[in-house]
Amino acid sequence: MQSLDKCQIIDLPKIRDYRGNLTFIEGDKHIPFDIKRVYYLYDVPGGSERGGHAHRNLSQLMIAISGSFDVILDDGATSKRVTLNRPYHGLYICPMIWRELENFSSGAVCLVLASNLYSEEDYYRSRDEFLKSIK
Ligand code: TYD
Repeated sequence: MQSLDKCQIIDLPKIRDYRGNLTFIEGDKHIPFDIKRVYYLYDVPGGSERGGHAHRNLSQLMIAISGSFDVILDDGATSKRVTLNRPYHGLYICPMIWRELENFSSGAVCLVLASNLYSEEDYYRSRDEFLKSIK
């Protein structure tokens, strides 16, 4: 399977309730990795872009907890654009995928669950370096 094909939307559990809905995520159960780190992007100015890197070993799940944004995923050969706009949809991103985030709606919050602690050594910040490494 191409690595881009592994990057799919995961339908997360949703407990519907007239008092408000609830979604939960358990590592290694609803998503294919244990959760070591959580971070979130918020207060993103209109027109701003995030991402612009790939990870050597990190797996991630990205969720539009509020609002919407687009994620462009690229394995060096092909790319696809995924719009996230539901808090019960998680986009699984496997290692070695270049990603860009754009089209953030006003008030959008991007929650990211990650398989490991923050490590700058795990990043490809240069697209040329990323492309060279997958050849
Ligand atoms: P970065 O991953 O480049 O953000 P984006 O995903 O939008 O491209 O991270 C931005 C800055 O935040 C960078 O200096 C590293 C720092 N950072 C941490 O210190 N810990 C973290 O868990 C993350 C994700 C980033």
